[in-house]
Amino acid sequence: MKDRFGRTIDYMRISITDRCNLRCAYCMPHAIPHLPHSDILRYEEILRVVRSAAGLGITRFKVTGGEPFARKGAADFIAALKAEPGVACVTVTTNGTHLAEALPRLVKAGIDGVNISLDAVDPERYRQITGSDRAEMVLHAIEQCAKSGIHTKVNSVLLEDNEDQIIPLAGLAQRMNVDVRFIELMPIGCGGEYSGPDAGAALNLLKEIYPGLAPVREVRGNGPAVYSADERLLGRIGFITARSCSFCADCNRIRLTSTGLIKPCLCDGGTVDLRALLRGGATDEKITAALISAVWDKPAAHGIVGGNVTERRRMNQIGG
Ligand code: GTP
Ligand code: 5AD
Ligand code: SF4
Repeated sequence: MKDRFGRTIDYMRISITDRCNLRCAYCMPHAIPHLPHSDILRYEEILRVVRSAAGLGITRFKVTGGEPFARKGAADFIAALKAEPGVACVTVTTNGTHLAEALPRLVKAGIDGVNISLDAVDPERYRQITGSDRAEMVLHAIEQCAKSGIHTKVNSVLLEDNEDQIIPLAGLAQRMNVDVRFIELMPIGCGGEYSGPDAGAALNLLKEIYPGLAPVREVRGNGPAVYSADERLLGRIGFITARSCSFCADCNRIRLTSTGLIKPCLCDGGTVDLRALLRGGATDEKITAALISAVWDKPAAHGIVGGNVTERRRMNQIGG
């Protein structure tokens, strides 16, 4: 469906949990109080929202967290989502630490892509950023995922703490068929307490090693990344430039949080409470009407550059 600015909204990001087993400094540096189970949408409730969304032409879905595989039954939920009539595309964004167990189920379900967060290849740097010793484990999961034939992307947030990792991270796209995306840090949640280089600075470093790196016009997902290729790389290098170059004019998405809030925009605090409707006996028509109103209320753009981010939730509560 179209929003009031004429943008086609056909993609929903579904966060299935706010929990995560890592403690990335810019996202969720400390353990969070556990929400009661009843606060979190049940999988059947999410599928009901999906059916309404699909009826509106929202046919592409991204499953996120916290860490989605920290929730029991996540791989089966993804399979059920993929099997829903009207659902064209299902992808997941994960920190990769539970991916090995889930992979066979995801392959069988025909998942359309897996994005794996990895901000450092070096185990010590990885530990510094995430508080965890699982760099090798995640690297292995990335390799397995790519080998399984799934379109695999690595997500690396650009931080002051991992500038020395930009080249080693890009090297993954030389070693295996994965896209490596560099993401400008956004001032959301704890992200506001850190800083990192912009995509232009990362590109300059990359060009020293890959002088042939040049933009390609390819659609490699449903997100705002733009890609570059080099003949020495099997995968692409991507950039997500929320700070240096706004992509909101092409925005195609809304979000559903694990507690059942529809978020029309990542950076805007405004929400529509679907959980109250779902549990208050609302008809399918009412759910659909709430989705239409959320899409209609989508802001034109985020306020990152002007310092007008009104979202006060942490990234693990939103799902990126
Ligand atoms: P695909 O390219 O389709 O695989 O997905 P994606 O890049 O949209 O999703 P992913 O979950 O891998 O997110 C990568 C980064 O993009 C994260 O840092 C997200 O927070 C950021 N991101 C995703 N969607 C938006 C958006 O609508 N606005 C902004 N500002 N950032 C976004
Ligand atoms: N800015 C940009 N990306 C972020 N992510 C988490 N917090 C931020 C932030 N403040 C990324 C994660 C993951 C994706 C879902 O969002 O690293 O790759
Ligand atoms: Fe869309 Fe908001 Fe993201 Fe901009 S910041 S691309 S408007 S969700």
